[in-house]
Amino acid sequence: MLTQSATLATNERIQALRASGVPVTHLAFGEAGLPVAPEIAAALAAAAGRNSYGPTAGLPELRAAAAGYFDRRGLPTAPGQVVAGPGSKPLLHALLSVLPGDVVLPRPSWVSYAAQASLLGKEVVWVPVPEGSGGVPDPALLGPALAAARARGLRPGVLVLTLPDNPTGALAGAGTIRAVCEIAAEHGLMVISDEIYRDLAHEPGSVLSPAEIIPERTVVTTGLSKATALGGWRLGVCRLPNAGLTAALIGVASEIWSNPSTPVQVAAAYVLAEPEPVRAFVAAGLGLHRAVVRAAYETVLAAGAGCPAPGGGFYLYPALEAARGHAGSAGDRGTAGRGTGLGGGQGGVDSAVDLAELLLTRYRIGVLPGSAFGDDPRGLRFRLATSLLYGDTDEQRWTALRSTDPARLPWIAEALARLGTAVAELTGKGHGDLR
Ligand SMILES: Cc1ncc(COP(=O)(O)O)c(C=O)c1O
Repeated sequence: MLTQSATLATNERIQALRASGVPVTHLAFGEAGLPVAPEIAAALAAAAGRNSYGPTAGLPELRAAAAGYFDRRGLPTAPGQVVAGPGSKPLLHALLSVLPGDVVLPRPSWVSYAAQASLLGKEVVWVPVPEGSGGVPDPALLGPALAAARARGLRPGVLVLTLPDNPTGALAGAGTIRAVCEIAAEHGLMVISDEIYRDLAHEPGSVLSPAEIIPERTVVTTGLSKATALGGWRLGVCRLPNAGLTAALIGVASEIWSNPSTPVQVAAAYVLAEPEPVRAFVAAGLGLHRAVVRAAYETVLAAGAGCPAPGGGFYLYPALEAARGHAGSAGDRGTAGRGTGLGGGQGGVDSAVDLAELLLTRYRIGVLPGSAFGDDPRGLRFRLATSLLYGDTDEQRWTALRSTDPARLPWIAEALARLGTAVAELTGKGHGDLR
């Protein structure tokens, strides 16, 4: 049995703690944390009366708008190459179901790829990411890993890349992506390039898509959940390289979701056409994500953690080897969890889960252990997302979006200071103003 996805389960646990009055700094969930742009809300509201089912692949106006979106990113696209779904997550699952072979994943990588492979009875071939990067396998390790997998009787068929990456927050460089694509082509792999964070690359234009290098074997996925912060609206699109794959995907979609919500598709067509209000909203969001995640990066580095440099989105993936064996004081462990539903640590920190538990129970900081992303369970790495720090109310979130120095807003600065204090205590760098 598959248990609930670690990201969703931890989010619900932290929400329940907060609802019961326990103040937790929530860095565990990859929701974009922004309000809805009023122009996009108006586009959705205007389409509320559209209650008919629609074409499985998506409304013609949405497919045309998505084609234009990809065109503007250097990926010439015909509307017939686009299929829309209720989020990119189900699209990824459907794609993995129609693309033959086992699934090759960077280690670590986003929680759902491996879970979806397992739902489909496929094996995962894990390949470590390059030191200090993420979202792609280390090109030096990819060929040997594929050969070893074949020797074990596996049939590697699909490679999934995340550009920019979740969980590491890194963006792989062009040279690495070219090398990985070359190896993928040599080995006959199809590539799924998950580009849901593309428009949140910290340097605009810095994403090289595999679809520019090996277009005939690359599927690109994206959606509305990150740059326009509409995760709960559930809308994703993908760009397919050939008509056979498009037809196969539409076949699966037709039996599972029929079509994405029609009013949401109308709003998505508006978003993907990128009129000025949408471009301004996305630019403001990018500025906010970049400023706060960079401030968090400096905070964890100053506190003695290792961490890949952020290249896009709102994630960091710190390594805290110095925390190994850390037990906290008996008093802390005895009282932190009592009556709060927080639980309490049983022994010294020896795994990613222990570390995440200690951060939650002792410091009231919610993060996800690296092992949730397929990483070595004994490695003391965790993923943090800074996107839920922007505020608990829309008023705070708009203030953050409009701020020229959001990391200094009191509710964000305080959360970062708490993070710095916790990390510094665990690395032995002591307290003090780390920011
Ligand atoms: C790398 C990655 N891919 C896909 C998704 C799924 O997004 P959607 O809301 O489009 O299903 C997420 C969401 O967290 C993600 O981080």
